[in-house]
Amino acid sequence: MKKIFAILMILVFAVAIAAGCGQNQSQEAANTQENAQEDAVERIKKAGKLVVGTSADYPPFEFHQMTNGKDEIVGFDIDLAKAIADELGVELEIKDIDFKSIIPAMLANTVDIGIAGFTITEERKKSVNFSEPYMEGGQQIVTYKGSGIKSKEDLAGKTIGVQISTTGEEIAKQIEGAKLKQFDTVDAAMLDLLNKRIEAVIVDLPVAKAYADSNQDKLELIGDMLDDADKAVVLRKEDTTLLEVVNKVIKDLKDSGELDNLVKKWFVDYKPVN
Ligand code: ARG
Repeated sequence: MKKIFAILMILVFAVAIAAGCGQNQSQEAANTQENAQEDAVERIKKAGKLVVGTSADYPPFEFHQMTNGKDEIVGFDIDLAKAIADELGVELEIKDIDFKSIIPAMLANTVDIGIAGFTITEERKKSVNFSEPYMEGGQQIVTYKGSGIKSKEDLAGKTIGVQISTTGEEIAKQIEGAKLKQFDTVDAAMLDLLNKRIEAVIVDLPVAKAYADSNQDKLELIGDMLDDADKAVVLRKEDTTLLEVVNKVIKDLKDSGELDNLVKKWFVDYKPVN
């Protein structure tokens, strides 16, 4: 009898604990729901900071630079991010994550927006919103000097390094007979190229130029741009008021000529320090 009573008590506790958990879970779900519904601009102002997801392996869009012995993330996109944070009157926090994880991080609410030389694509439009374009550009083949590769066609049977989830990866997939090697970061892809473990890398033209400039005796650009597509800021679909703010900043930068200044600063005048 005692035994049965003990078992009963255990069961009662187990049920009580399970019910408690259930309640916590539904409370949590309700909170997330609430956060998601809160206006993005309000939420960011309340937090006092704009959290931007980027992949700082893409000079001159975004990259690490030593300034007075301090490692900093700088670049065209970072200046754009600063302008957006200024418009909102908040601090800017940059989160450096692998390119493939930026949109997932946004959808999981760990970053507010993505700025990482994002090309506008129909596929991405299914899950996120794009701002007005802030720049045009396209993908470019980089090879090592002496690879014998003179054109896109020469890549048949060769290995192309690509950053995962990029348009460069999509384009490389379509190159007849070429093999693909996927990398989390462009830095890692370029390192393999410099060590001749792969024959080419496909990245945006200014990025190809930046890496070739820092390795002048080793890397070279091949052929013309493989596509021509606009770059824009990436936002969550529901963050429509934030989209308006971002579009206003881009329009203001264009109208005032400041965007041209930034293009000149990062894409024309900038020379890597190393
Ligand atoms: N423009 C290309 C794309 O949207 C590549 C962008 C990669 N950006 C970076 N920061 N690594 O897919």
